[in-house]
Amino acid sequence: MTMTFDFSGQNVFVVGGTSGINLGIAKGFAQWGARVVVASRSQKKVDAAVAELQGLGSDAFGVSFDVRDFASVEAGFAEVSEKLGGPIDNLISGAAGNVPGRLMDLSPNAIKAMVDIDLMGTFHVMRASFPYLKKPGASVVNISAPQAFVAMSHQSAVCAAKAGVDMVTKSLALEWGAEGVRINSISPGPIDGTEGMARLAPTEQIRDAVTKSVPLKRMGTPDDIAKAAGFLCSDAGEYVSGVVLPVDGGWGVSGAAVVMTAAAGFMDKLKG
Ligand code: NAP
Ligand code: COA
Repeated sequence: MTMTFDFSGQNVFVVGGTSGINLGIAKGFAQWGARVVVASRSQKKVDAAVAELQGLGSDAFGVSFDVRDFASVEAGFAEVSEKLGGPIDNLISGAAGNVPGRLMDLSPNAIKAMVDIDLMGTFHVMRASFPYLKKPGASVVNISAPQAFVAMSHQSAVCAAKAGVDMVTKSLALEWGAEGVRINSISPGPIDGTEGMARLAPTEQIRDAVTKSVPLKRMGTPDDIAKAAGFLCSDAGEYVSGVVLPVDGGWGVSGAAVVMTAAAGFMDKLKG
């Protein structure tokens, strides 16, 4: 990571920060001097992420909760706040689940799992976090996806849930602005080496097609997303609130739907 921000003396909480893109964001903030906290369901993943963040020099710690369970999220925030002994300067909320499939091939419970994690989980994290955010001055970043604005086959639940996430972001920018809290979404493009891409682009052929469809001709990296989160949470972003920032090499405006529909067809064939 060559980009440098200064977050020393700041507390950053990354919900869903124990793998993939969100762990990349957590590592960025650790390198920029912040005290980083991560949360997800698996205590094992929390412990591994905390060890990695401590290795980067952050006085990091973690908690385990399921964003679908409001009581556990609320208890998690209370515990984190007590341990921090001060307010949360920056909150990143990015827990998500994705089971690709045509609506008629998914059980109601599978649909519910995606909407509950992505959309209700965002509501829960926002609702539980607000008392502990620094006012004025906090910055909140929700991790959205291109599905929020590009309809994709095999992704109806994620499309609906992430579109909802972006409207939560925009609505809360109105509600929280007067208290000096900024809130934005980042919409990552296809990010290499992540669980999300493993599920959406399960073969070399699909990965290749996706890569070629990105105007910048490469998939993104967790570092690319971390740098955008750093910008939004830094003084450089101090007049930015209520936006959805695509960090996707131009993918969202270049026909992502066409490529992902082809990918979906491929998945159907694999399924047999
Ligand atoms: P990932 O590695 O699977 O990360 C998901 C994280 O959320 C993990 O830390 C996971 O940990 C946690 N999580 C999942 N369900 C949870 C729950 N119910 N409660 C609490 N934590 C939960 O996935 P990723 O591909 O890096 O995606 C990260 C974010 O980027 C997601 O919001 C995704 O929608 C978005 N995104 C990804 C891509 C991409 O190319 N990968 C593109 C656009 C947007 P546990 O299993 O321990 O709970
Ligand atoms: N295909 C079809 N249905 C699936 C499935 C798959 N690959 N995986 C899970 N499901 C269904 C289950 O059968 C269940 O439905 P049912 O009760 O009608 O049988 C429902 O989804 C919930 O599954 P369960 O395993 O109980 O959920 P969970 O709460 O343990 O996990 C998921 C949530 C399903 C979203 C899981 O994939 C997950 O934990 N994902 C997080 C990682 C991720 O998706 N990363 C990418 C982020 S973009």
